[in-house]
Amino acid sequence: MRVAMIGTGYVGLTTGVCLAELGHDVVCADIDGNRIAQLRRGILPFAESGVAEMASRHMTRGRLHFTCDLANAVAERDIVMIAVGTPKGAEGEADLSFVRNAARQIAPAIAPKTVVTLKSTVVVGTAREVREIIASERGALDFWVTSNPEFLREGSAVADFLRPDRIVIGADDHDAAQRLIQLYQPLLREGIPLVETGTTNAELIKYAANAFLALKIGFINDVADLCEQIEGDISAVAQGIGLDRRIGSSFLAPGPGYGGSCFPKDTEAFAATGRRHKAPQPLVETLIVRNEKRKRGIAERVLRELSDIGNPTVGILGVAFKANTDDVRESAALAIVPILQQAGVSVRAFDPWAQTKAAALLPSVAWHDDPYAALENVDLGLILTEWEAFRSLDLARLALSMRNRILFDCRNLLEPQEMPRHGFRYLSLGRGG
Ligand code: UGA
Repeated sequence: MRVAMIGTGYVGLTTGVCLAELGHDVVCADIDGNRIAQLRRGILPFAESGVAEMASRHMTRGRLHFTCDLANAVAERDIVMIAVGTPKGAEGEADLSFVRNAARQIAPAIAPKTVVTLKSTVVVGTAREVREIIASERGALDFWVTSNPEFLREGSAVADFLRPDRIVIGADDHDAAQRLIQLYQPLLREGIPLVETGTTNAELIKYAANAFLALKIGFINDVADLCEQIEGDISAVAQGIGLDRRIGSSFLAPGPGYGGSCFPKDTEAFAATGRRHKAPQPLVETLIVRNEKRKRGIAERVLRELSDIGNPTVGILGVAFKANTDDVRESAALAIVPILQQAGVSVRAFDPWAQTKAAALLPSVAWHDDPYAALENVDLGLILTEWEAFRSLDLARLALSMRNRILFDCRNLLEPQEMPRHGFRYLSLGRGG
């Protein structure tokens, strides 16, 4: 099939490249000329394992193209996907101005019977609004607007695309749904479950899925707090509840509060949608407040540990919002570092991938090239991201180089039993025993 992707951000680019992998002819369009020029040279604006290799393979085969010419890109395409940004707007709802602009721009250029598909995470009801925008610009209703939400995780997006738990197709018309089913045929043939429904349901599925996952994290974080008070162990509790198939064992790891470009924004948008339609979502409203409070709480706990130390220094390991990404959006580090600095703490840091992006947002941090350099002469080491490499830190080496041996492990990567041997005061989450 011939597909056009509008927007070469994380979702658009990854999806476009993966659709080429399924055998489709894909043109990715963006108004950012610089970005398109870079992409044509094989340079991606973000780090995502597998995407660059796949992109270069399909560019060479002539199945993947990049352009700034939106009108040309969408002409004569079976499917035009809109994957432009939907930043947080007023009242917490997604700001749809980029989506509306894209709809206006493609309206005169699409061929009759084009299926326009919303990939961006949008306010419930947007597919219908986009249909009206295109119809009013075009003066005809000879096209369809559908919703096809994505469930890609940063760091494992390619695997999530090629082996998804399900494909959700939201279409208010049978022929339009069939076109999208054809697009995903290579995956559906392998038995990937399909949810075929209307556009409104598809839009809501995206928000509800992210809100539910975020609730799981918020819940386990609260249980971890309780474990700390009663000498409990969160890993045993998580295992014990997770083996109940109705609960499931994933997304039960306590942490410094969820971050990233999706959960914080989507939970707020979901709550705002509930308020707007007079069906409030109090669980999610509470979750949003608690998640922010959790990040602050970590900073306050660090400050308590440092209260007797003059001119304290903290070494942070991990500033990405999770491992295997260079993305720092809404990461715990972005919330915690300024609180520490305002309290007079000097901050050093190391992250395997995210330092360049974080340095622009956290200018007064001293960046180092490895974890040992970042923790040299510090009073407290604070692990915020679950990078695999941090599990095997050489504790003897750290013990020699830190000024005070306090380690606060917000991802439970280290073994508590090991710590006293090296003279560490060790804090982690939900391990009160
Ligand atoms: C999330 C969803 O998992 C994807 O299904 C969805 O497609 C995506 O948002 C999106 O809406 O586009 P992502 O933001 O890449 O994906 O990251 P997650 O792996 O879900 O992690 C989100 C946050 O929760 C991270 O800060 C992570 O550290 C935290 N987390 C995750 C925990 O604290 N504990 C866990 O057990 C799992």
